[in-house]
Amino acid sequence: MKTTSETKELRSRKITLNKNENVEESKKTTTQSGQRLHPFESCHKIRDSLLSSASGYTNYRGILNLCVVLLVMSSSRLVLENLLKYGFLVRFDVPILFIKDPTAWPSLLALVLSNLFIILALYLEKLLQKSRIGENSGKFFCFMNVFTALLVPAIYLWYREANPVSSFFALAWYTCLSMKLVSYFQVNRHCRLKIKNEPTLQENCKKAEKNSTNKIENNFLLEYPQNLNFKNLYYFMAAPTLCYELNFPRSQRIRKSFLIRRSSEIIFLSSLSLILLQQWVVPILKNSKIPFRESNILKIIERLLKLAVPNHVIWLIGFYCFFHSYLNVLAEVLRFGDREFYRDWWNAEDVNGFWQNWNIPVHKFCLRHIYKPLLSQGITKAQASLIVFFVSAFFHEYLVSIPLRMFRIWAFLGMIVQIPFAIVVKKFLHGNYGNMAVWISLIIGQPIAIMMYIHDYYIDYFQVTN
Ligand SMILES: CC(C)(COP(=O)(O)OP(=O)(O)OC[C@H]1O[C@@H](n2cnc3c(N)ncnc32)[C@H](O)[C@@H]1OP(=O)(O)O)[C@@H](O)C(=O)NCCC(=O)NCCS
Repeated sequence: MKTTSETKELRSRKITLNKNENVEESKKTTTQSGQRLHPFESCHKIRDSLLSSASGYTNYRGILNLCVVLLVMSSSRLVLENLLKYGFLVRFDVPILFIKDPTAWPSLLALVLSNLFIILALYLEKLLQKSRIGENSGKFFCFMNVFTALLVPAIYLWYREANPVSSFFALAWYTCLSMKLVSYFQVNRHCRLKIKNEPTLQENCKKAEKNSTNKIENNFLLEYPQNLNFKNLYYFMAAPTLCYELNFPRSQRIRKSFLIRRSSEIIFLSSLSLILLQQWVVPILKNSKIPFRESNILKIIERLLKLAVPNHVIWLIGFYCFFHSYLNVLAEVLRFGDREFYRDWWNAEDVNGFWQNWNIPVHKFCLRHIYKPLLSQGITKAQASLIVFFVSAFFHEYLVSIPLRMFRIWAFLGMIVQIPFAIVVKKFLHGNYGNMAVWISLIIGQPIAIMMYIHDYYIDYFQVTN
């Protein structure tokens, strides 16, 4: 049996031979003046049809263009159908209405309150550095700080009945803040313990502390405990990363044209999402009320599939707008050098590959501050993954349940089912099939969770009042 590489080599040799034959042939049939002599020379040779895999042909650019043309045509038809059916539903003053809405203010207040937890984290680090409290007490206070940072805004926003959208953004910031605080504590603790265990480092540390102001002003690399100041902590809080470092890689300068391009993308794409949401998604959701009231499973499935496409389009726009445009703007303004916010998750051939490549700031945090520390404690990879996915599932539920003011487990389950789903895909589907399974889960999974929440929201707020 020939191996694949041997077959490829033979095929490429065959192609080269054919080319050489053709050159010889053309030499034979062409005079010096360039005129062909034998028009009836043999024009057949052994060769495969282009579309058979043995031909080795891979250039399907034209077919891809055809898909794009078909997509544009069918989308245009959809737009027309939608406009004819519902009319023009888009309101352009939504952002203004949102700002004027007094139920959005509690979220703003919650955002301002987050400074308190940041200040407490720095104060705690100072106490630990000066050995005013022990390491175990430090761990306890850090835990309490993170725990309150998650609990207090959630309770406050729940009881103030804050607007769900603004509440979601405030809690998303608190979720990031809690991860940043954990990272800040763990990295500083690592530096502290390293210095305590090495006496020579202690001397250097004292010297560094004395020279700290000069060094910071002259842009030297920071050493522990020079980093324990507001400037350094607030830079980390603003930076597009969840993993703390004493010295982040910095870009040379702020590129104005890059900044303008990315900022224009944010404005354009967020407006486009808002338009699609009002014109495309809202009518589908409104029309889902009757199938839910009648508990008509087939109609609910039809609604689900109808919702899947616009939901996915908005999700893709959201991905680009947040991970590419917004995080790059933030990084550019702060001259933050590491721009790896995502990798090529779209080519993932299994579920693990997707989670490794889709949200790099969160993935890096999970690896550095949960997964690897757990592995070093002797926990198996499977158990460590399970714990990471449980933590992630908790945060997904936190970000949906509190803004909607209803405790459900759909977002939590959505994350947890990733574990068995990953096992099944890895075992039974490979290559393109695995990639398609990942896409299907992305396209169908989210609308299922959305529909479940709408179903429950309808039962809680609509049917009861009826
Ligand atoms: C759980 C999770 C962290 C696993 O990640 P993974 O990349 O599949 O894990 P792997 O087992 O391949 O190992 C990853 C790293 O651990 C290291 N590692 C493996 N075994 C190790 C051990 N015994 N000790 C120390 N390190 C180890 C590997 O070398 C690798 O290091 P590298 O990243 O520097 O190359 C990942 O799936 C994840 O991030 N899940 C959650 C994602 C999420 O919830 N995202 C939310 C987005 S909204």
